[in-house]
Amino acid sequence: MKQTKYSLLLASAAAALLASSIVSADTLPSIVPAPADNPTTPEKVELGKQLFFDPRLSVDGTVSCNSCHNIMSSGTDNRPTSVGIDGQRGGRSAPTVWNAAFLSAQFWDGRAATLEEQAKGPPLNPIEMGMPSEAAVVERLNSIPGYVEQFKLAFGGKDAVSYDNMAKAIASFERTLITANSNYDRFLAGEKTAMSEQAQRGKKVFEQSGCNACHSGGNFAGPELPIGEGFYQKFPAIASDYDHKYKLSEDKGRFEVTKDRADMNKWRVPSLRNIALTAPYFHNGSVETLDEAVRVMAKTQLGLDINDQDVDDVVAFLQSLNGEFPDISMPRLPDTINSSQVGGMK
Ligand code: HEC
Ligand code: HEC
Repeated sequence: MKQTKYSLLLASAAAALLASSIVSADTLPSIVPAPADNPTTPEKVELGKQLFFDPRLSVDGTVSCNSCHNIMSSGTDNRPTSVGIDGQRGGRSAPTVWNAAFLSAQFWDGRAATLEEQAKGPPLNPIEMGMPSEAAVVERLNSIPGYVEQFKLAFGGKDAVSYDNMAKAIASFERTLITANSNYDRFLAGEKTAMSEQAQRGKKVFEQSGCNACHSGGNFAGPELPIGEGFYQKFPAIASDYDHKYKLSEDKGRFEVTKDRADMNKWRVPSLRNIALTAPYFHNGSVETLDEAVRVMAKTQLGLDINDQDVDDVVAFLQSLNGEFPDISMPRLPDTINSSQVGGMK
């Protein structure tokens, strides 16, 4: 049953890929190409989904990917900063995983090139999932027979259960997290009533004020670049009172990765798809509402004091970027057979 459903999904996705080449580049494609060494298969997608929801990837069995990226809704936790094991908080806000597959670099500062590379981070991050080592994660997975079976099915070979394969399965699942067919996409496809008058006015303000100089393309995250080559811009680019009010410059962004002074306070331009659902805003989650985020952007990136009517119109436009969310059911997870063997879950 399950398999048939996914095969159908992939088959229709392949058809959509063909179709997407004739659709305007400004709409969101409905399939993401996978890297050559990790082709998407139904087995990997199903395994990756279970891993994504499984708190046993964290040291004390309390935190899953889904804890911070709730894909039963916005793909975020809607907190300024996320809560990991033992209630610990980091300094950055969780971005959505919906459509992350289209980004040419992962994280606010672009420090991971691919979804595969990204997925290896959280389980070992001491304030997120806190596992002591890759070997400990593999040991934990090996202690759950249902996972061993599925890793074999998905990857074959003798060492099917590996940290790399865990990341590959999760990435394959994330490549299915796409929200195409927003009101905006339908409007572009010719359905003239799909966007309200106000949203259409907002689209004009967005384009005429120059928001799309950075938030361009079908994902509103800048030009399509080769994977790993993120599109970075300074934020804040122009000094204003917002800087102090929302502590916008404290985190040095891309500079923390490259140590190159030219990258000081540079950030990967984020997607604006589903942005109305992912409050609070910015890398530090310091701005609570979308209208305030629009005001901040206009001022810090374009030097504009944008009036209330224009703010409301842009917000209506951004709401039209809310996509169609595929139905997701919570997966059944493979059982822990012998709890003493779940690799020292404290
Ligand atoms: C404790 C909360 C937490 C957990 C658990 C967590 N994440 Fe995240 N995730 C974050 C935060 C915060 C960021 C942004 C960090 C940064 O940019 O420095 C992030 C970034 C990401 C991104 C990048 C998205 C983008 O727009 O750049 C992806 C993809 C992602 N996480 C997937 C996962 C997966 C897969 C897991 C499980 C293996 C996971 N996360 C577990 C909080 C979490
Ligand atoms: C010069 C490039 C640039 C321009 C122009 C620009 N932005 Fe941004 N935008 C960014 C960057 C970079 C970020 C990420 C900021 C951060 O690190 O928090 C961002 C973030 C945002 C966010 C918050 C995203 C999130 O996930 O929290 C919104 C909303 C947004 N921009 C809307 C707009 C609007 C509306 C305009 C026009 C008024 C605009 N932007 C103009 C570069 C730009």
